[in-house]
Amino acid sequence: MEKLYDAGNARAIGVSNFSTKRLGDLLVVARVRPAVNQVECHPGWQHTKLHNFCQSTGIHLSAYSPLGSPGTPWMNSNVLEEPVITLIANKLGKTPAQVALCWNIQMGHSILPKSLNEERIKQNLDVHDWSIPDDLLAMLTEIKQVRLFRGDFTINPQSVYKTLEELWDGEV
Ligand SMILES: NC(=O)c1ccc[n+]([C@@H]2O[C@H](COP(=O)([O-])OP(=O)(O)OC[C@H]3O[C@@H](n4cnc5c(N)ncnc54)[C@H](OP(=O)(O)O)[C@@H]3O)[C@@H](O)[C@H]2O)c1
Repeated sequence: MEKLYDAGNARAIGVSNFSTKRLGDLLVVARVRPAVNQVECHPGWQHTKLHNFCQSTGIHLSAYSPLGSPGTPWMNSNVLEEPVITLIANKLGKTPAQVALCWNIQMGHSILPKSLNEERIKQNLDVHDWSIPDDLLAMLTEIKQVRLFRGDFTINPQSVYKTLEELWDGEV
């Protein structure tokens, strides 16, 4: 990637699913600092340690599955049904999805929501000209933190990763 960057074929280098440790290890050897790290991030998996590291090193955090990927059959979690999110949504006259997206924006992250539904796409775009007040924003820290994209399929005796702790460098 650095060679492509040097040749002018890439304007920036991005990484994905890098833990705080892996990003730190990369910074030790990288000539070209990654511009962005794309990771799972939503109110139910806030990635506080990684967020702080990215802020302190000037690496942008981009949030995939910012709605917590509702409807994914193998995930028995629905971030949008968290009582604190629905409470804030009701107070602000917004939808739970908009509250989840706005939280990420207020954290300084970009968001990658996905929808096949026109109304929800419009709803998901309407998150830039309002904000969650600080007192309500603080309530979102109460949500139990659960990584949804755990990567269990990569854990097996042949894999270099023998446990989820190893895969995510303890950030599970
Ligand atoms: N880098 C990586 O390793 C990685 C991993 C996972 C995902 N991603 C990327 O992240 C993006 C989004 O991920 P994702 O699809 O897992 O999660 P997501 O955007 O959090 O959730 C998408 C789901 O939310 C529903 N939805 C969208 N807007 C909604 C709204 N306003 N209210 C209620 N439900 C709503 C969608 O259904 P409808 O279509 O019916 O609206 C869809 O089922 C994708 O582009 C994906 O490629 C990257």
